[in-house]
Amino acid sequence: MYESSNDLTAGDKALLEKARAVTDKAYAPYSHFHVGAVAKLVNGETVSGTNQENASFPAGICAERVLLSSASMLFKDVAIDTIAISYHNHNEYGESSHPISPCGICRQSLAEYEERTKKPIRLILSGLEGKVFVIEKAGDLLPLSFGSIDMK
Ligand code: THU
Repeated sequence: MYESSNDLTAGDKALLEKARAVTDKAYAPYSHFHVGAVAKLVNGETVSGTNQENASFPAGICAERVLLSSASMLFKDVAIDTIAISYHNHNEYGESSHPISPCGICRQSLAEYEERTKKPIRLILSGLEGKVFVIEKAGDLLPLSFGSIDMK
């Protein structure tokens, strides 16, 4: 845990700044909660995702899974090194000064991406300001998970 993005390495700070900026690309007319995620891949490329909501609420997709779908399509089987995740809370009195952590479905998707590409995905979590959490392996957020090995 870090008190602010200024305590991160230059590379991590730059990735987090990209995630903060990309929250502008969210489509969140229902929740007004704009989430941005930016990944650095092991080949040096970056891939972004933002939440995409829908009038039929369950059809909406989180920023993290938009990102993973894009990464898988654009750079199939290329491992992800780090994903920075931030949010802009446009709700009345909404704040953005604490880190948010991926929802349960996104944890499942992140865990399978790690397994598939055989590399842990680091997560950098922070609002537009304030504390930053760095998690070394996204799968650690989902203990005792169900995965492909269970279907063998
Ligand atoms: N959301 C994300 O995109 N990622 C998260 O980690 C948590 C929640 C989105 C889903 C929905 O569009 C809005 O934030 C409010 O839940």
